[in-house]
Amino acid sequence: MPASERSYGAYLETRERDGLRRGLTAIAARDARTISIGKDAYVNFAGNDYLALRFHPALIERAKAFAQAHGVGSGASRLVTGNLDLFASLEAKVAALKQKPAALIMASGFQANASILQALFDRSVLGAEPLVFSDRLNHASIHFGCAAAGAREIRYRHGDADHLGSLLSQYQGDERPKFILTESVFSMDGDIAPLAGIAVLARAHDAMLIVDDAHATGILGEGGGGLSGEADIVIGTFSKALGSFGAYVAGSDISRDYLINRCSGLIYSTALPPPVLGAIDAALDLVPSLDAERTHVASLAERFRLGARTLGFDTGASTTQIVPLIAGSNHAALGLSKRLRDAGYFVTAIRPPTVPAGTARLRLAFTAVHTTHDIDGLLDALDDRALPRSATA
Ligand SMILES: Cc1ncc(COP(=O)(O)O)c(C=O)c1O
Repeated sequence: MPASERSYGAYLETRERDGLRRGLTAIAARDARTISIGKDAYVNFAGNDYLALRFHPALIERAKAFAQAHGVGSGASRLVTGNLDLFASLEAKVAALKQKPAALIMASGFQANASILQALFDRSVLGAEPLVFSDRLNHASIHFGCAAAGAREIRYRHGDADHLGSLLSQYQGDERPKFILTESVFSMDGDIAPLAGIAVLARAHDAMLIVDDAHATGILGEGGGGLSGEADIVIGTFSKALGSFGAYVAGSDISRDYLINRCSGLIYSTALPPPVLGAIDAALDLVPSLDAERTHVASLAERFRLGARTLGFDTGASTTQIVPLIAGSNHAALGLSKRLRDAGYFVTAIRPPTVPAGTARLRLAFTAVHTTHDIDGLLDALDDRALPRSATA
């Protein structure tokens, strides 16, 4: 065994000891509500399919139609022969949804953040080191993109526009290009960044505002357009409320052209395949009409938050479809997850480094196919005083 492999083994043992070891569980899903593991079925509260679109007949039909008409692969990167004519109309739809002049479709949200930020922060293009002001709870892919660019992040306290403002003031008069990076809805907390205040700061300090709208696109904002209106550049995914896979960036024509020329994730990766483009296309057509679903999801989340708080749980600053139950220790989070699973509900324990040490939690996400009955069952399962009652999966 090479020495390196012994090091990997030792790492795994440490993770195990600290309650941090991860593993892959085989899941079967036949609809948007239920998942099965072996013979056991659970109501799924752990996904990001907020509008329950991944089993929607319109997406499936268009994915099939695109596969039949255009094949199951795109055959090359977009700069070679993979830029199928399907992309242009999809990008026009994304630009309209995000109310930006231009959009570009990328392979995945992680890849988009990793490679777009690397390109935008390229000091050889900017002519100086970028000053990147970044919410400390930003997604791993955002930190990854900064690291790939060799850009040091100046991290401000989570969701704290005052702190951001005071950090920006320290660099007043500094000629280096400034950027502000934030998620709109934070993936593990379900709270919303103070975007209006951040946008004012961005203008005042001549900083480019980049917003990751992954968890708002489709499910929040007017017509499901998300919350990133004030951003110069919006990055988001089709893998969450839009039900399938892939990502987009929306902004100016110049930024789009620049990324086509400089963004390694676009240049060196095969274009998304036609069936996925079909699913994206159908989702983009449907999303504006799903106000009833958005209202339903918001009211389920609110019902759960109120109930959980009454039971003494800490739901953080969540105001969206994502609700954490902050347990603190890793073992406490794992224990809560198991308890819910025993009652028929699948909710994943989220542990460091995904969340800061000491804030391990359950992350619940509510979707269009959940019911008030599900919420009440969940709350019963979390209530120490209640008799165990199994869910109707
Ligand atoms: C805020 C945020 N950005 C980006 C991503 C990555 O998106 P994708 O799953 O499409 O790679 C995620 C998903 O985990 C996310 O939560």
